[in-house]
Amino acid sequence: MKFHIQTWGCQMNDHDGERLSGLLLNEGFTQVSTSDEADLVLLNTCSIREKAVHKVFSVLGRLREEKQKRDVLIGVTGCLAQQEQAALFRRAPQIDFVLGTMALNQLPRLVEAAKAGKKRVMDTGEYPDNHLFPPEVARRRSTAKALVTIIEGCNHACTYCIVPTTRGVERNRPWQDIVAEVRGVVADGYREVELLGQNVNSFNGGCSFAELLARVSEVEGLEWLRFTTSHPMNFTKELARVLVTNPKVAPFLHLPVQSGSNAVLRRMRREYTVEQYMERLGYLGEGRRKLGLSTDFIVGFPGETDEDFEATMKLLESLKFDSSFSFIYSPRPGTAALRLKDDIPAAVKTERLQRLQKRQLELAKESNLRFVGRTVQARIESHSAARDGFWMGRTGEWKNVHIQTGDGRILPFGELVDVTITMASPQFLGAEIA
Ligand code: SAH
Ligand code: SF4
Ligand code: F3S
Repeated sequence: MKFHIQTWGCQMNDHDGERLSGLLLNEGFTQVSTSDEADLVLLNTCSIREKAVHKVFSVLGRLREEKQKRDVLIGVTGCLAQQEQAALFRRAPQIDFVLGTMALNQLPRLVEAAKAGKKRVMDTGEYPDNHLFPPEVARRRSTAKALVTIIEGCNHACTYCIVPTTRGVERNRPWQDIVAEVRGVVADGYREVELLGQNVNSFNGGCSFAELLARVSEVEGLEWLRFTTSHPMNFTKELARVLVTNPKVAPFLHLPVQSGSNAVLRRMRREYTVEQYMERLGYLGEGRRKLGLSTDFIVGFPGETDEDFEATMKLLESLKFDSSFSFIYSPRPGTAALRLKDDIPAAVKTERLQRLQKRQLELAKESNLRFVGRTVQARIESHSAARDGFWMGRTGEWKNVHIQTGDGRILPFGELVDVTITMASPQFLGAEIA
């Protein structure tokens, strides 16, 4: 049987996709790169915003037509599966099975049942050992870094967020298992590892997150260690110290702030004020200047006034993030923010988003210009499909680098290369081999 898996959403979902692929490969299935060739299509979904959900239903619509022409099994997993559960069968009867985010290893059983002709097969149970998923099963996609999940779930309760519903409460892996898995991926040839969690810095699997970084960084052969995502209230002085002093921890921090207005932050139940967020960043001291810093913003949250939004713009100006991801607030089923009146006209939301994104691009360019003339290390991630002699790499600060070789040289995928930065745009740095 041939399967195709399509994954949306965050890195954790990406890695879940790698786990699910591994399960099916172990069952003797073959993985194919398009749904047209597949006997089983698995949609590993995200439901963080309404747009993400639309994408899933649009693919489901296409698959429905496909299913009228030939035999194909359709399975839905990921956050939309966990959120909607049996309701998915009603909205899209072409679905054969639904698998929740906390029951990954039940996949082969569900596929068997669906293959045997059973209708509407579902498991959205909470298997308490889901986070102990055997690391050797995951079949990693060939990318320049290995994803390693360290903690699943989230104990915060941001009023806009679906994640606590779709991923449950926090479950930690023991730190020894994590170190062993990192040793394994390094032995497989990976030089860079990204530790994953909805909130990595509340890690509590036998040591603190800062301690875990220190322990993992000792794995011989590992060059860079990254992590995502962090909640500002769990960002400790100890963690800041490891981040700015440990040479194996890549100089990059993604610390979502969401808004520059305390009134909005309170309604979002983010548990911090703007002042507290800045205090946490202050833990980095002078080391902050060497880090790439990125954040997330939500605009148009219920009740966001012009003044609230101006406060966000002021924060953007004063903290000068190297990059940021910004989104228009999207109401999510069952979340507390639904009780707040979504009172901002769509046009105003769009205008705010565009203003924020435009200014961020200018700031990103300023940040990138600081690199021009410098020689830095970049890990080779891919070759440009469009142009010969062009390679894409990534610096420790998470900057995209477009590297021109010109002389037919092949750059080694996954390895660090010294490059001299020759130009800067808002989105990337241009470079030549040093
Ligand atoms: N655990 C992470 C966030 C994961 S979701 C954290 O707490 O920072 C990634 C980003 O999506 C969030 O930071 C937020 O900016 C955005 N997001 C989450 N829910 C959203 C919603 N309902 N509408 C719009 N953006 C949302
Ligand atoms: Fe969602 Fe908040 Fe948890 Fe992040 S910290 S996953 S935004 S509830
Ligand atoms: Fe999306 Fe679920 Fe990740 S909602 S962002 S796939 S945790």
